[in-house]
Amino acid sequence: IAGALADGPLKGKHVVVTSGPTHEPIDPVRYIANRSSGAQGTAIAEALAALGAAVTFVTGPADAARPRGVHVIEVETARQMLEAVEGALPADAAIFAAAVADWRVTQAADKKIKKDASGVMPMLDFAENPDILARVSQMKEGRPALVVGFAAETNDVVDNATAKRTRKGCDWIVANDVSPETGIMGGSENAIVLISSEGAEDWPRMGKVEVARKLAARIAEALA
Ligand code: CTP
Ligand code: CA
Repeated sequence: IAGALADGPLKGKHVVVTSGPTHEPIDPVRYIANRSSGAQGTAIAEALAALGAAVTFVTGPADAARPRGVHVIEVETARQMLEAVEGALPADAAIFAAAVADWRVTQAADKKIKKDASGVMPMLDFAENPDILARVSQMKEGRPALVVGFAAETNDVVDNATAKRTRKGCDWIVANDVSPETGIMGGSENAIVLISSEGAEDWPRMGKVEVARKLAARIAEALA
């Protein structure tokens, strides 16, 4: 595994990080996506590597430049992301920063879907994607010691994120408010509430790189 060049509290630890959006194909030229830039996941991977971790970074098609000093695996769909994560285990910690598409088109067309002279719209049929975070959180054998999920919410942030932590079985949820008026989605700042078994901890609004450093330091403490 690449990385692990730095000396630090995470030396000898392997951390898997997911990041970016996933793309779910409709036909060969179209896909369903979301607004994730991959900036927060990228910053987390770099911050973990800077503390000495060997990082496997599984990313969907994101705008953000790829992090340095880590092993990068590029995927497109949620199902490919799951496969890459499972292939990257075992790990001491797994951080799920990706904005995974909840649904995929059940049967992507193998040819471009054409407009119909009759004006009838095509109907898309959806299937739910596997929940990568829930799967890893609930592993019976070989579960990473620390599993961290994210929750992008537009309302009732703490309640929704606390319920999400219990439902999925992860250790921490890094929750943020992505309602449009916060400007967080696609921006360079983040306002985090860290949810753990101890409760909810509010972090002041700060840059995504600072969030990443603070989170990496907390991960190092938890794994020590
Ligand atoms: N996640 C995942 N695989 C999925 C969906 C989500 O690994 N198929 C992870 C995300 O990477 C994130 C966490 O689960 O760490 C929460 O994602 P979120 O979209 O907030 O939660 P959902 O359970 O999909 O709930 P909803 O979108 O309905 O709020
Ligand atoms: Ca979701």
